[in-house]
Amino acid sequence: MKDTALNVLRILEEADGPLSGEIIAERLGITRSAIWKQIRELRKMGYNITSSQTAGYQLTGSTSMLLPHEVHKRLRTKFIGKQMRYFDRTASTTWVGKKLADEGNPEDLHGMVILAEEQTGGVGRLGRSWASPAGGIWCTIVLKPNLPLERLFMITMAGSIAVARAIRKEYDIGALIKWPNDIFIGDKKVAGLLLELSAEADTIHYCLLGIGIDANILLDELSPSLKETVTSLKAETGGDVDRVALLARVLKEFEQRYLLLESEEYETIIREWKSLSLTLDHRVQIKTMRKTFDGEAIDIDDHGALIIRKDNGRIERVIAGDCYQ
Ligand code: BTN
Repeated sequence: MKDTALNVLRILEEADGPLSGEIIAERLGITRSAIWKQIRELRKMGYNITSSQTAGYQLTGSTSMLLPHEVHKRLRTKFIGKQMRYFDRTASTTWVGKKLADEGNPEDLHGMVILAEEQTGGVGRLGRSWASPAGGIWCTIVLKPNLPLERLFMITMAGSIAVARAIRKEYDIGALIKWPNDIFIGDKKVAGLLLELSAEADTIHYCLLGIGIDANILLDELSPSLKETVTSLKAETGGDVDRVALLARVLKEFEQRYLLLESEEYETIIREWKSLSLTLDHRVQIKTMRKTFDGEAIDIDDHGALIIRKDNGRIERVIAGDCYQ
């Protein structure tokens, strides 16, 4: 958002009642017609601003868009989200992150959050497409992690815990984590996470943690097949949720756990992940590229693989695949 529009917004936010264009113009040292232009911009961004010839302008409602300066107002993190990039619409925030990190210095981008109101080519796990209509929270966190290569998968664990915890704290809903990185409410998926790596030999160039949350999505807008397996926070709570508050909470919860990882507190993260797991101690059906089998999910190992006790008593380790339960 342009600085002038932000300044006009701040003045309107601080005002007790309506303010004339003349007063705002005087405070900012610009013309009344420039103020009128900024008011139009702010309205386009979803702010409700009434105007009357006699009294002037008054802010009567905030925006429902996920605008960076609104997120910043609520953000209580040390480094996650200090830099943000925002798109009304983009193919995928992951692609944006990749381009920025490939073309720039990933160290400078550490903690950057890329946000989109809508993705036209959202990417999910195993190369699947990810429906990303307006109303969701579609974001990618760029990281230059200071972690051993074999621990990187734990960034997704930290992210999954963060999303589950944020949903629990904001709405008092018992969200759980389905292996590997799906967030479920009851038997329906409400969010998914995906970690993309750029590494060479044992050097990590950067990581991109993609988070997709079905926040204010009307289930009727989804395809019939998705509708059966997916839910949204709007459907669960019965109304639109405050996406800014939720995102600020997710980023805070994530940063806390990410810092634990950097302090080598791996056990703490694994313990918390297990305590929120929907999969462990449940009967599951696993589908990998090569086979399908049933059994009981009994543990995850140090690499995030799911350990299954098959019905014939044999133990299988699953690194990647789909888990049905
Ligand atoms: C999954 O398959 O469960 C993972 C879904 C990850 C979706 C998010 S939305 C933001 C980011 N951009 C993408 O294209 N994908 C991730």
